[in-house]
Amino acid sequence: IVDAVGIDERQQLFSDMIVFSTYAIQVLSAFMMVTNLIQTSPRSLVSSKRIQEILTYGIAIPDGVVPAGQDREGEVEFRGVSFEYPETGAEVLHDISFKAERGQTVAIIGSTGSGKSTLLSLITRFYRPTSGQVLVDGRDVGEYERAELNSKFGFVPQTSVIFAGTVRSNVAFGDMADKASDDDVWEALDIAQASEFVSEMEGGLDAEVQQGGKNLSGGQRQRISIARAVCRHAEILLMDDSFSALDFKTDKLVRQSLKARVKDATFIIVAQRVGSIMDADLILVLDEGRIVGRGTHDELMEGCPLYREIAVSQMTEGTI
Ligand SMILES: Nc1ncnc2c1ncn2[C@@H]1O[C@H](COP(=O)(O)OP(=O)(O)OP(=O)(O)O)[C@@H](O)[C@H]1O
Ligand SMILES: [Mg+2]
Repeated sequence: IVDAVGIDERQQLFSDMIVFSTYAIQVLSAFMMVTNLIQTSPRSLVSSKRIQEILTYGIAIPDGVVPAGQDREGEVEFRGVSFEYPETGAEVLHDISFKAERGQTVAIIGSTGSGKSTLLSLITRFYRPTSGQVLVDGRDVGEYERAELNSKFGFVPQTSVIFAGTVRSNVAFGDMADKASDDDVWEALDIAQASEFVSEMEGGLDAEVQQGGKNLSGGQRQRISIARAVCRHAEILLMDDSFSALDFKTDKLVRQSLKARVKDATFIIVAQRVGSIMDADLILVLDEGRIVGRGTHDELMEGCPLYREIAVSQMTEGTI
């Protein structure tokens, strides 16, 4: 009996210990939750403040009123445009004036940081000029409804943006997704010299494209990006250093097919290579936000020291 009682007491002690440690763990974890809360609350406060800031942010650039169905000429004009970034206040473009007529190719060349991408962002109304006017088809870009303005451009950004999906969904993108047929997509790919590698991909137009285009080469991404702009059948094509990842031969083929097959479009092309822009109707040489030379290739070789310097340095590079 004594033994039986002993065992019984020991069992009692054991179960007491389990109960005790369970309670102890519960109390401890409650304490840990409180400390965790104290630790994360300053971060949450800052985040909620930021979210609040975004939710209450006023529209920086108000929309215009000119609806669809207006003239579609493809004319772009800068009238005495200066611009400073609101964030920094430093003037990035000074008194820029030029005109690109329908069907013309206007090229912009200049060293890194000279303001080329900024200039394009004023045409798409990503920013508004600090002074002067940017006109498309004779109207200030500020007057257009956003959808109408967007429909006028095909824009190839400096860094190709590729989305997870298929080749088709990357080319016929946004409002073109329902409008473009397979033939339209192939045609755009063909103009961008991309149809060959796409037809070799498994699935063709349905071939999988990973986020950021990880399963594509830089030059392939750039050509998909060009095809996307072409597919919009826009009156104005803006290309920001869009041939940089292509070899000289492909670069030339893309430019030739754009010129021949994208009928009547106006091209505004930013380029680093003189070879890519030699046959432009008008070349603007940008230096620290100012136009320091304008004309055709031959005129600039004659009269613009900076242009000649760029051209000569690239020629010598090319012969090495
Ligand atoms: N979002 C921005 N906020 C403030 N400053 C900017 C911003 N983007 C560009 N800048 C500045 O504006 C100037 C012109 O930049 P931009 O990108 O237009 O040059 P770029 O000619 O396109 O150069 P790259 O050939 O390297 O692409 C640079 O001095 C740059 O630091
Ligand atoms: Mg740029």
